[in-house]
Amino acid sequence: MSHTLVERTGALALDIDAQRLLRRVEELGRIGADPATGGVTRTGFSPADREARAYLMDEARTAGLFPAVDAAGNIVVRQRHTRRPTADRQVVMMGSHLDTVVDGGRLDGAYGVIAALEVLQTVVESGIALPREPVAIAFANEEGALFPQPFWGSMAVAGRIAELPREPCDHQGRPLREALRLAGGDLDALGSASWPRQSVAAYLELHVEQGPVLERSGSRIGVVEAITGRIVLTLEIRGAAGHSGTTPMEARSDALAAAARVVLAAEHIAGRRKLCRVATVGRLAPHPNTPNTIAGTVRMTVDLRDTDVWRAGDAEEALRTMLCDIAEATGTEIEVVAETRSDPVSTDRRLRAAIAGSAEELGLLHEELPSGAGHDAQFMADIAPIGMIFVPSIGGVSHVPEENTAPEDLVAGARVLLRSALRTIGLEEL
Ligand code: GLV
Ligand code: MN
Ligand code: MN
Repeated sequence: MSHTLVERTGALALDIDAQRLLRRVEELGRIGADPATGGVTRTGFSPADREARAYLMDEARTAGLFPAVDAAGNIVVRQRHTRRPTADRQVVMMGSHLDTVVDGGRLDGAYGVIAALEVLQTVVESGIALPREPVAIAFANEEGALFPQPFWGSMAVAGRIAELPREPCDHQGRPLREALRLAGGDLDALGSASWPRQSVAAYLELHVEQGPVLERSGSRIGVVEAITGRIVLTLEIRGAAGHSGTTPMEARSDALAAAARVVLAAEHIAGRRKLCRVATVGRLAPHPNTPNTIAGTVRMTVDLRDTDVWRAGDAEEALRTMLCDIAEATGTEIEVVAETRSDPVSTDRRLRAAIAGSAEELGLLHEELPSGAGHDAQFMADIAPIGMIFVPSIGGVSHVPEENTAPEDLVAGARVLLRSALRTIGLEEL
C-alpha cells in the first residue's frame, strides 16, 4: 500500500476537534430524547428525524460545507456544490444514519454521521489538496422502525430501489411519499439517488459495536471483517374481530393467537432447529388492541439473520411454510406486505489494513470482528469497497436507552476514521 501522496502533504498530522465532535453528539442526542426513559426515538422520516436532519444541515452549513438532500432523503455533505462524481472524479464516502429505533440510544448511526462530518470539516479546513474528494452522508431510514424499508437510503444510493412495486406506507398505512417529500426527497425520482459504480473509491462507516466483544477483550478499535445478512418480513395477519365474551372458541379467527404462533415459530427456527443464527419478532401491533375484543388484524415483523446467505434463505423458507400451516390452523390469512434482504458481505482487505494501520499509529489496541448488526455499508458494498470501524459499547448493549460509549472511545474512533480516510484518499489504486 502506498501512502506517499498523503504523507507528502502532511495530512497524517491532522487531528479532529474532539470537543466539537462530542458537542455535536450530545446536541443531536437531545433530539427525540424521552426524559422518562432516557432513550431516543427518531424513527425514519418522523418529525424528530426531520429535526435531526435539519440540525446536521445547519452544522454543515455553519462549517462552510454544502449539504444537499437526494431523492431518497439522504443528506450528502460536500466541500462545494460540484458535479456528480464519476469514475474519473472519485470520492471517498463516510457516513451512517440519523434515524433510530423506538426508545433506542443516541449513538447508533448518529455517531458515525457526526464523525463523518467532523472528518470532512477537518480535511476541508486544513486546505490540503487531496486526490479524492471526501464526502459525508447521512443515509435515510436505516432502521426501518416506522416505514418498514430498512436500509432505504443506502439501497437507493446502490441503485436497488429505482422502481417500487407498490407505494410504500408506514405501519399505520400513511404513505412514504408525503413523509419523504417533507424530508426533501421525491419518490418519483428515486433513480436519481443512485451513484455510478466506479464513483465511490471507498465507503467507510464508523459505528458503535453494539455488542460485548471489544469491551471484553479491552480493544479500543474493532476492524469489521464481515456484516451479517438479514431478512426482514413485515406480515399482516387478517382474522375476524369479535366480542371476547360472546364468540365461541371454535368460531374464532383470532389474528393475535395466530401471531403468537408466528412468534414461537421464529424462535423455534433459530433456537431449536438452528436454521439461522438469530430470529426475532420485534414489532407486534394487534388491532383494535382492546381487552374485550378479539384481534381482527395484526401487523408484525420477523427479522432473520445469518452470515451465510443460504442458511438465511432456508430459514425464510421454513418460516413461510410454517406461516401457511398457522394460517390454516387459525382460520386467518397471513400476507407478507414488505420484505427487505441484505446479504452478508465482507469488508475490503485494503480498507481493513488502512483501519488497522491507523489504529496502530494512534497506539490503539485493535482486533477484527464480525458485525451481527446490519449497516448501510452492506448496500454500499454493491458499488464500492467498504470498511467499517467499531468502538466499544459499554455493557455491550444497543437499541436500548442504556446504549453508551466512553467519550475517549468516541474520539479515538473518529481519529481512526480520519486517518483511514486520508490513507484511502491517498491510495493510488483502489
Ligand atoms: C440495524 O440497526 C440492525 O438492526 O442491525
Ligand atoms: Mn440500529
Ligand atoms: Mn446503526
